Amino acid sequence: MVYIILEKTSRLPGFYKLTPEERLRIVAEWAGLTDEEVELLKNYGNLGKELANAMIENVIGGMTYPFAVATNFRINGKDYLVPMVIEESSVVAAASHAAKMLREGDGIIAKASDPIMIGQIHLVKVDSPHYKAALILDRKNEILEHANQQDPILVKLGGGAKDLIVRVFEDTPIGPTIIVHLLVDVRDAMGANAVNTMAESIAPLLEKITGGQARLRIISNNAVYRIVRAWARTRPENVGGPEIAKRIYEASVLAEIDPFRAATHNKGILNGVIAVALATGQDHRAIEAGAHAYAARNGKYEPLSIWRVDEEGYLTGYLEMPLQIGIVGGATKVHPISRIALKILGTKTANELAEIIAAVGLAQNLAALRALVTEGIQRGHMRLHARNLAIMAGAKGDLIDKVAEEMVKAGRIRFDYAKELVEKFSKEK
Ligand code: MEV
Repeated sequence: MVYIILEKTSRLPGFYKLTPEERLRIVAEWAGLTDEEVELLKNYGNLGKELANAMIENVIGGMTYPFAVATNFRINGKDYLVPMVIEESSVVAAASHAAKMLREGDGIIAKASDPIMIGQIHLVKVDSPHYKAALILDRKNEILEHANQQDPILVKLGGGAKDLIVRVFEDTPIGPTIIVHLLVDVRDAMGANAVNTMAESIAPLLEKITGGQARLRIISNNAVYRIVRAWARTRPENVGGPEIAKRIYEASVLAEIDPFRAATHNKGILNGVIAVALATGQDHRAIEAGAHAYAARNGKYEPLSIWRVDEEGYLTGYLEMPLQIGIVGGATKVHPISRIALKILGTKTANELAEIIAAVGLAQNLAALRALVTEGIQRGHMRLHARNLAIMAGAKGDLIDKVAEEMVKAGRIRFDYAKELVEKFSKEK
């Protein structure tokens, strides 16, 4: 199919049926892309065109993010090199730095609960909903059995539908409603596929039992049963002395009393969590949705981690959050780089990966709080930002650091100044 664009319209019927090249041609014309820009978009990197085109719809190109490795991590007595994919400078350096502060003994300790996810079935137009709830619970075993028939392999691996919870909402704007929660142990999967299939499969049975109508049949990303806890205790010298340890504790309290600060505190944790999630091909939106829902579980948005100084003056940190991640299914097995990321980690189970991710979140949080209560966040950020600007301005090799240092020294971390310096130093060579 060939389009002749007469007027600028986003209505492009059949666009999805075209090849990536054909689509790119249309977009290039629409946006006036140069040949150079078109060539850049055509670079599919290590994903490859075929795979990219199969993964999502309307693909016109690829976009590469840097893949880095955080060092120094010791989690549950084992050393890890942690793959991270992220666009923000300083995150990997900060994680590695904090991991060093927390590496003594067994390092950061982390434990994941059983990987239980919730499948929701919303039943509307249910009269006498309390009575109907009793009828559902009375047939629990039958319902669980029906759900488990959908996934015999999961059941064989020790997972499957394990329990049922019924919630009654008698008075809603859409009339009496029942929400059924199917609790599914999803083992090494993120779980959305298994849970959604089960939820859809038991919906007709629930309709029959209640006389209501099933509406939504979908996983809940408020994964309150799939919790990971990570904790660490470190000598105050490791973070720069007792005064800094005390200030980190104070920073934690500020997040505990103030939701505005708590959101940023949690953003720092998610910097680490999501970077590992991206590297390992996870559904990071699910993780984020779950993290924020969990942070607000007590009716007020709260930090996911708490820092204290104990009687011996040690700094202690504790993080608790849901992590809906997997090592089978989804992009984890499809994207060649996430497979490599898992190989670098050497993880054999989703729970081990969850423990690593939670530990990284805790370390990332420590690094941010430590920077905030000492030199502030901008200095380190600006140093790395200066390097990025130097590279963008055309600096190569030794020139990158030379230009960056000069910009930091002059307090002028700007692209125009980077260009000026690159030209100046290149001429001097
Ligand atoms: C920046 O990406 C993250 C921080 O704002 C986190 C925090 O404030 O704790 C530094």
